Parts: sequence; structure tokens; C-alpha cells
Amino acid sequence: MKELFEKRIKSDKLNTSYPVDKEDWSRYRSERDIKFNEKEICYYIHIPFCMSKCKFCEYVKYIKPKRELEDKYIEILIKDIQDFYNNHKDCILKGLDIGGGTPTCLEYDNLKKLLDFLANLLSKTSISADFEPSIESTFFTIDEEKIKLIAQNGFKRISFGLQTVNKKFLKKNSRPNPTLERMKQVLLQCKENGIEKVNIDLMYGLENQSRNDLEAAIKTISILKPQQVTLYEFRTNILKISEYKSKKQLFKEYYYLFKQLTKLGYKGIFGQNTFSIYDDLGLSSYIRNRMINNISYKGFGISAQSKSKEGISYNIGKGGASLEECLEKGSFGVEDSYILPKSEMLAKYIAISGYCGRFSLRIMQDIINQNPLELFKEQFDFLLSKKLIEIKDGVVFFTRKGFVHYGAILSLFYPTRE
Ligand SMILES: C[S@@+](CC[C@H](N)C(=O)[O-])C[C@H]1O[C@@H](n2cnc3c(N)ncnc32)[C@H](O)[C@@H]1O
Ligand code: SF4
Repeated sequence: MKELFEKRIKSDKLNTSYPVDKEDWSRYRSERDIKFNEKEICYYIHIPFCMSKCKFCEYVKYIKPKRELEDKYIEILIKDIQDFYNNHKDCILKGLDIGGGTPTCLEYDNLKKLLDFLANLLSKTSISADFEPSIESTFFTIDEEKIKLIAQNGFKRISFGLQTVNKKFLKKNSRPNPTLERMKQVLLQCKENGIEKVNIDLMYGLENQSRNDLEAAIKTISILKPQQVTLYEFRTNILKISEYKSKKQLFKEYYYLFKQLTKLGYKGIFGQNTFSIYDDLGLSSYIRNRMINNISYKGFGISAQSKSKEGISYNIGKGGASLEECLEKGSFGVEDSYILPKSEMLAKYIAISGYCGRFSLRIMQDIINQNPLELFKEQFDFLLSKKLIEIKDGVVFFTRKGFVHYGAILSLFYPTRE
């Protein structure tokens, strides 16, 4: 185990992305889509449009297209959601996130069309007590009208990307740089219009990101006082960039941000990327249920990922098709589907949950139908003896020492391919 761990800590590929290599799942590829027979489910809706493309971004997105194409996108999206809903009317909805891309760069009418449709659907659907829909935005694509529209349709959480306040970096990466005044104005408008939770995304591990940059980002957070903050370690799996900061450097940056956010009164355990002034783990109910509770999710829109108890699928566009090609099909159906064995479903859960700095023995047991402490005895003995993890109330957490190599720790629970 020690040898394997030593080998894994040298890999740049290991973070919370799974599978580690896309080809790892080729043998599980299926001609049919995955089925959803479960009672509880979350929805994710992908809006793949942005005003400009940030060079560091690893998500599937297109420059905001001309009006007819955007209209068509929303039309197809609504049809796809309706079709799925018609076949799964008995499901209890535990989360609903609209992400991207940048959902709020939609024209007002299109955003309204989508939100009105969803509000109507929700009025006919069973929703869980913790249901808390959320939408992603940027400070450039929102105005008071859109904020009102979002709040009136039951979305009380908006997540804004800030990433960094380093103007040079933003410029180099084709991302506009909002002024502090603009951000303050948007947060005030959110508050005045009934948005209860604003989340701000910050990134670390970026090229040339210095302690001063991190300090400046924290200063901005201390002024804006969002209810939640999410940290994103810069990932290059999809971008295929070779220069990558060392694990030690990433740990240092995370540790600094963790300490500062804690000082500002945000709650979050060490190793967790999400922070909140409340006891809600800093997450929307979609992410919370997807990550922590292993609830299945259905993704709508180009490139969206879905996960059910039997596998994972990706909608068209994931492989790089153009917007026009995807729209021509008349449905953003599945492009790639994988019916997975328990060992792979477990690995996917461990990777997703690892983002929150933890994974649960009970959920592991539910997936593999075996006691994880017995099945992974060697792994647990090694990690506990080296004080890389600790187990509290049936939940495995990284220790500070362990968090430096969190990707390598998670990987010990993945099926071995070497
Ligand atoms: C869907 S994206 C962006 C939402 C919105 N369009 C924005 O730019 O703020 C959600 C978050 O992913 C993070 N992100 C984007 N590219 C990333 C990368 N290469 N590695 C890690 N996080 C990334 C950013 O923090 C971003 O706010
Ligand atoms: S970070 Fe946000 S705005 Fe930038 S390209 Fe990615 S999704 Fe679009």
C-alpha cells in the first residue's frame, strides 16, 4: 500500500475528477441510456453560453450565439425536461441547479421562459424538505430585472464566479474584471430582492497567483460578505496544460484561504472546499445531495452529466460538437453512456464526495453491499496508521497531513489499473 501511495502522490492527474482517464470506462460503454428507477433525484440544467471564454475554464461552453440559436436551445431544453418528467412523475426532487457556462447571459425572455416553465413543473412535483434551487451567474450578466425574475421563481441562491481579483491574470485569460462597486451593487440588489444565499467562487493554484492575490481576494470577500464561498483548485485534466503547481504549493494556498475564511466567520471543515455562514455546508441542495448523499442526478442540455444507480451518461456536445450540430438533433440526448460495476460507482462516489473533504462508510456500504472497512482493510489500516485520514461517526475525513495528497488518498479506493 505504501508503495502504491508513494507512486500515486507523484501523479498530477489525481484530484476529484473521475474517471482519471476517459478511456478507463471504454469497456463499460453502453448502447442504451442509463435508467432512473430511483425515487429521489436531482436535476441539473446546463446553459453553455458565455459572453467571452475564459482561457482557464474547463467547462463545455460556446460564445453567446445569435438570438434564433439561443431561442432554439431553450426550446429543446424545455422539451427534453418535459419528456423526462413525463416518464418520472413519481420522483421526489431533491435539488435543481442551473449552471453553465453562464445561465444569466441568456436574454431576459429566454431566462423567463425557462424559469416560468420550471416553476410550473415544480408546482406539480413532489419536492423534498431540503430542496433549494440555485443558479450560476457572473457580475456582468446580471441586472436587477433578472435578479427579481430569479427570486420570484423560487430560486433563493445565486452563485457568482469571482475567481481572482488579479487584473493581469483576468486580462490574460480573457475574463472581464468587475469593480468592487459593481459587485457591491449586485449583492445589495440580491439582498433587496429576496435572494437569501449568495455564493462566491474563488480559484487557487492559478498561474502566478501570489499570496498578495489571495489576500486581495479575501479582502473582497470580507467587504462583500456573501453567505457562502466555494474554493476551486485549478484543474487541468480537460485543458491538458502541463504546467501545474506542486501539491505542496496548492496545499499552502488552500490552507491560507481556509484560515482566512474561518477568521471571517465562515464554517467549513479542513479539506472542504465550500464554506458558509450557516450550517448548510455552503452548498445548494443539488450539490449537497449529489456529493454528500450520493443521490442520482439527471442532467439536461449540451454536455450535461447524469448519474443513476446503474451508471453515468453524458449528453451530446461533451465530445466537442458545435452548437449548430447539437441543435440540429432536436434533443440534447445522450452521447456517451456507461453501465458501471459497483467498484466504479464506488470510485465515482468517493471522488465526488472527496470535494467536500469526506466520504461516508454507510454510503460506501450501500454501493458495494459489503463492509468497506473489511473490503478496504489494507487501505484504511495504512491511511489511519500514517494519520492521513480520521474516521468520525462513520465518516472519513482527511487530516491536514492527508489533505496535501487528497487525490492520492481517494485513488486508493479506485479499481486498480496498473
Ligand atoms: C460553471 S463555472 C462558472 C460560472 C460562471 N460562468 C463564472 O464564470 O463565474 C463554475 C466555477 O468553476 C470554476 N472553474 C472554471 N474553470 C476551472 C478550472 N479549470 N479548474 C477549477 N475550477 C474551475 C470557477 O471557479 C467557476 O466559477
Ligand atoms: S469561467 Fe464562467 S464565464 Fe468563464 S468561460 Fe467558464 S463558464 Fe464561461
